[in-house]
Amino acid sequence: MTRKIIIDTDPGQDDAVAILLALASEEFEVLGITAVAGNVPLALTELNARKIVELSGRTDVPVFAGADRPLERDLVTAEYVHGKSGLDGPDLPEPKLKLQEQHAVDFLIEALRANDQVTLCTLGPLTNIALAFRKAPDIIDHVDEIVAMGGGLFEGGNVTPAAEFNIYVDPQAAQEVFHCGRPVTLLPLDVTHACLTSRDRVERLRGLGTPVGIATAELLDFFERFDETKYGTDGGPLHDPNVIAWLLKPELYKGRQINLEVETVSELTMGMTIADWWGVTNRPKNVNYIRYIDDDGFFALLEQRLARL
Ligand code: BDR
Ligand code: CA
Repeated sequence: MTRKIIIDTDPGQDDAVAILLALASEEFEVLGITAVAGNVPLALTELNARKIVELSGRTDVPVFAGADRPLERDLVTAEYVHGKSGLDGPDLPEPKLKLQEQHAVDFLIEALRANDQVTLCTLGPLTNIALAFRKAPDIIDHVDEIVAMGGGLFEGGNVTPAAEFNIYVDPQAAQEVFHCGRPVTLLPLDVTHACLTSRDRVERLRGLGTPVGIATAELLDFFERFDETKYGTDGGPLHDPNVIAWLLKPELYKGRQINLEVETVSELTMGMTIADWWGVTNRPKNVNYIRYIDDDGFFALLEQRLARL
């Protein structure tokens, strides 16, 4: 049985690797890729998504453009991490693959109504998903689960001392989606900061010798530059592919069901994920919060799957 997924994303080098990992894995039927504004503005995230789909050779997968700004706040971008294009590193050609005319939010609604159990893999701010749930609440029942990269507890924030980027950009959307009533699994910074693109790991991907292996290594060469300086590590955290890897091999991860709320009021802690890891409240347990990863297992999986493209 294949799992039907939609990837909602703001590529982003690590988003790109996540998309490649999904497209390389026969466990998934990728119904579509929906772009959202985040790391860079929407015009670039949708273009980058098409470049990556084309690199993978899976041009049967449609790409849609969605929200160009968060629900209630001004857009904050991260060119200082991802470069001006959002996908700095490899020299990828202009894609021939056309952008779908349908808005990503309408695609999400249509695809969920047409399918019973769809897994939403979210790699960026949750604006598209929140807008679709607001516009058509009936689709929520058709969501099998939501697997999201975002937030952090023990690692603190990466964009402010309190907040992780995806949640910070659209905290209102995150709070709504995490309380939609369907199962939510969160891959936070506590996991991704233990998933480092060391030199050896990047060279193994380059060593695949394929266009995908080489481009992935070039994406990671660029991506880790900023974080190596910031964190003083060999390699930077690889975030978004953990969403896909968790679906493929949950045994690589450990976490537990907890209550999680998002700060949407205080500017000082805006976008902070208030994760009740120790169960000190009676609030309902709405999120499967992943805290630990087998990083060697993750990189072995990534290498094995990317070799297939
Ligand atoms: C998240 O923010 C983005 O910069 C990355 O693509 C990832 O989704 C990490 O905080
Ligand atoms: Ca992302």
